[in-house]
Amino acid sequence: MRLGDTFPNFQAPTTIGGKSFFLRHIDFYEWLGDSWGILFSHPADYTPVCTTELGRAANYFPKFVERGVKLIALSVDSLESHKGWVEDIKSYCPELRNKDFPFPLIADEKRELAIKFGMLDPDEKDSKGMPLTCRSLFVIGPDKKLKLSILYPASTGRSFDEVIRVVDSLQLTQKRKVATPADWKPGNHCMVLPTLTPEEVKANFTEEITVVPMPSGKNYVRHVTLNNN
Ligand code: BEZ
Repeated sequence: MRLGDTFPNFQAPTTIGGKSFFLRHIDFYEWLGDSWGILFSHPADYTPVCTTELGRAANYFPKFVERGVKLIALSVDSLESHKGWVEDIKSYCPELRNKDFPFPLIADEKRELAIKFGMLDPDEKDSKGMPLTCRSLFVIGPDKKLKLSILYPASTGRSFDEVIRVVDSLQLTQKRKVATPADWKPGNHCMVLPTLTPEEVKANFTEEITVVPMPSGKNYVRHVTLNNN
């Protein structure tokens, strides 16, 4: 999958069931509707780092809802395994106790999706020597195009603060002609797109633009603090 590619539709069994294949399978596009989506894989159920990741994603679920983003997880474990493990995640994360787990988990036992989306890690194997999924994450836009992907090895859990941050950047930069600098957070200044001419800057911004002088004499660093952000 490359950035800008249309993320393919698929049907898969999930913990929330669906409308087809005896009510176990979702149709990804139907489930996603017009929302943004995050499909993310983890190596295996009943493993410690994955427990923290799924717990944090579930804890942050309201933040994703606020941003119009649906979450769906995937590993090569069975539905029965997912359903059992979710109870462990809820117990490990006190804020999730006595609540329904907020998003579905896909059971990709035949590794069909993992292969299709390049999620397998040849260095991580199950007890039968079969490759496991790595920590892959795709952000898909309402137009079903791939907006961002990250790939982490099993040894390194992801930061869901970073996932929220990149969603904020993606959604902002779809609306305004800016790019977000290193370590940007909402409310910080942004960079006017370096491709914009001074006339285009005038046409696209009511906000004050600060051109930062550079030794090269080139005016490519243009700060803007956006209204309402
Ligand atoms: C974990 O989630 O803790 C994990 C899974 C596979 C390999 C290493 C760690």
